[in-house]
Amino acid sequence: MFEEAGLEFQILQSREKERIIEAAKTSDALLILYADIDEDILKEAQEAGRLQIVSRYGIGINMVDVAAAKACGIDVANVNDYCIDEVSDHSLAFILAAARRIIPYYNDTRAGHWDFKVADLPIRSSKATVGLLGFGKIPRRLAEKLNAIGYNVMAYDPFVSEEDMRAVDVEKATVEEIIAESDFISVHVPLIEATHHLLNREAFQAMKSNAYIINTARGPIIDEEAMIEALQNGEIAGAYLDVTETEPLPANSPLRTLPNVVLSPHAAWYSEDAFFEIRYKAIQNIIEKSEGKTPTYLIHS
Ligand SMILES: NC(=O)c1ccc[n+]([C@@H]2O[C@H](COP(=O)([O-])OP(=O)(O)OC[C@H]3O[C@@H](n4cnc5c(N)ncnc54)[C@H](O)[C@@H]3O)[C@@H](O)[C@H]2O)c1
Repeated sequence: MFEEAGLEFQILQSREKERIIEAAKTSDALLILYADIDEDILKEAQEAGRLQIVSRYGIGINMVDVAAAKACGIDVANVNDYCIDEVSDHSLAFILAAARRIIPYYNDTRAGHWDFKVADLPIRSSKATVGLLGFGKIPRRLAEKLNAIGYNVMAYDPFVSEEDMRAVDVEKATVEEIIAESDFISVHVPLIEATHHLLNREAFQAMKSNAYIINTARGPIIDEEAMIEALQNGEIAGAYLDVTETEPLPANSPLRTLPNVVLSPHAAWYSEDAFFEIRYKAIQNIIEKSEGKTPTYLIHS
């Protein structure tokens, strides 16, 4: 893509600060995954007068000092919509697997048994409520899929109106209502100060004892210690988690062995198409900047 757009590129396989500074001083754009781009680097780049944009292939941009970049007149961009299908599918797969008790049946039949009563009595989808925490791009797609199946869907998002939710057959709710009434609580808020440990000890105590937690968003939105206690005490039925407070999940975490927990290793985004799209769009940000256009995924704040 770079070549087609008439741009030269170099690959820097190092996260050493000195090497990054050198690259930032001698390039018009940086395409990054994990490199830390702090204020020192940005100021040196500004002095050299060349760097125009830092584009990350990914959503999170916590490794870039966005305020310093803005002060230095350098754009920062990311890609925030490359895996809406994948993550909503993953959440749906978790909900359906929990609802239809697939894991206990799988384990029991592999152990040589044949007993449909080995798992808790399932609930019919049209009688079950899925509560979505957050109603951004991913849970909107998930809601369409859940509605097609017949689930009752409600969502908490202070920035989305009741009318907007009603238009897609979703009931607007408070966090407290979601916690108290849902059979499946699916987490989709961004990880920010206001959502850190949004699901805490009190929340688990207020949940239905047959409720499942589904988290494909970010681990620290849930107080993991409190969730483990709730899972051990039977305050909730189970947890299906793609993300955890620490990743990789420590080998000795109880989440790895609790019978009512199912894990995937932060894989909800992953598919051949998402893998391509994230790279394509991150490069596109740079090409747009080189053509004097506003990058599609420019970070505004
Ligand atoms: N597991 C994975 O592989 C994977 C991949 C992509 C995204 N994610 C995560 O999925 C989650 C959802 O992503 P998205 O693309 O739908 O996000 P989005 O940016 O489209 O939407 C975020 C929504 O959260 C709402 N919101 C903001 N602050 C809130 C608050 N304090 N309380 C409740 N709602 C609030 C906003 O109004 C917005 O509607 C994010 O946490 C993201 O990091 C995970």
